[in-house]
Amino acid sequence: MTSTLLRGRTLSFVRWPQTMDDHSAWRYEEDGGLLIRDGRIVATGAYADVEKQADDGTKKIDHRPHLLLPGFIDTHVHVPQMQIIASYGAELLDWLNTYTFPEETKFANAQHGRRIARLFLDEMVRHGTTTVVAYCSVHKASAEAFFAESHARDMLNIAGKVMMDRNAPEGVLDTPQSGYDDTKALIAEWHGKGRQLYAITPRFAITSSPEQMEMAGALRREHPDLHMQTHLSENHAEIAFTQQLYPWSRDYTYVYERYGLLGKKSLFGHCIHLSEREADALSDSGSVAVFCPTSNLFLGSGLFDYQRFRQRDKPLRIAAATDVGGGTNYSMLRTMDEGYKVIALNGEKLNPFQSFWQITRGNAEALSVADKIGTLEAGTDADIVVLDASATPAMQLRMETAQTLAQELFLLQTLGDDRVVREVYVAGRAAKSDMAN
Ligand code: GUN
Ligand code: ZN
Repeated sequence: MTSTLLRGRTLSFVRWPQTMDDHSAWRYEEDGGLLIRDGRIVATGAYADVEKQADDGTKKIDHRPHLLLPGFIDTHVHVPQMQIIASYGAELLDWLNTYTFPEETKFANAQHGRRIARLFLDEMVRHGTTTVVAYCSVHKASAEAFFAESHARDMLNIAGKVMMDRNAPEGVLDTPQSGYDDTKALIAEWHGKGRQLYAITPRFAITSSPEQMEMAGALRREHPDLHMQTHLSENHAEIAFTQQLYPWSRDYTYVYERYGLLGKKSLFGHCIHLSEREADALSDSGSVAVFCPTSNLFLGSGLFDYQRFRQRDKPLRIAAATDVGGGTNYSMLRTMDEGYKVIALNGEKLNPFQSFWQITRGNAEALSVADKIGTLEAGTDADIVVLDASATPAMQLRMETAQTLAQELFLLQTLGDDRVVREVYVAGRAAKSDMAN
């Protein structure tokens, strides 16, 4: 049995940090150790204490002076959009029709799906993200390709093939029955295989007929332990079109409510223009609102009101995500930098401890997987990122004047990207240095 002992400055969150002085919300070790065995963290704490538990064969890796954090988690991202990221000049519905749907038709070709799945997970690892919640294309083969690649790398990923049966080109449409059958087959083959988890994925109300929404509700009833992901209240034209397609519905959220799609494992991308009633419905059901700042800015969709959602009488559970390719960067650091600015435009602040909580433990809690990932606690999976806040000349210069951990984290978020990610461990195995460049 081989074991690995990592040494560095370790940081892991215990709960939401109320303020920058809320020290009991995190555990920080200036000289920390992580002992890893069989893909899990078996001991964590001060290096001197953890080292005592190592044996003669333990491989020691010294990452000082870098920071060791739990691997980042991206809770909403589209695998088949890698080649349309950075497509110019459209709001949501035009962007989908002009770029996204035509691009996704290419995934009928299984070989293309395998190539993109491989490059997608390479890119995630390069940016320090060890878990994603992913939308594959409508084609069953695209989800198979994604899960096969993820399983081979022993990554904990959550994904689903999108179900969509109207308002898009023929090449990206299924039917209520084929969407149901393909989803059932994918669940049977992949859910719970190694670290793979399946998410039921009706793309959004506009591209699913009422019959398909019924089928999505049936899938949820049949598999109540699975995640469900979709889009909600991203853009005004989208909201108006949804109202036209579901004239009986009091609002957008009620469409999903009516088909039984709200709940603790339900992830709703965007949630920008919610009414109080809709926010109450999400809160009452324990549903998760996913904040996608780079995408919301890029598509001109609007400003997600993070602090209002957290602080209202009935708070929302919130996750953060890139939403590539509506989103403009693979990095969760770039995402939180833009998130900070969106929150600032709403007249609020998100402090650096809150940001790093969000992309590690916060996202893990939003996905109900904090017992496995999102912290450095003993017993959890060894998905770890190694960060260097002096990775570029400009960062190195700024670090000369940084005196606190909070300043260092904020610098990592504000100037950092894949260059600050020195190493990534996936289930205890070095994955970034191992990757062909
Ligand atoms: N709504 C429905 N599909 C999509 C998508 O692919 N990206 C975004 N940003 N919104 C959507
Ligand atoms: Zn999306």
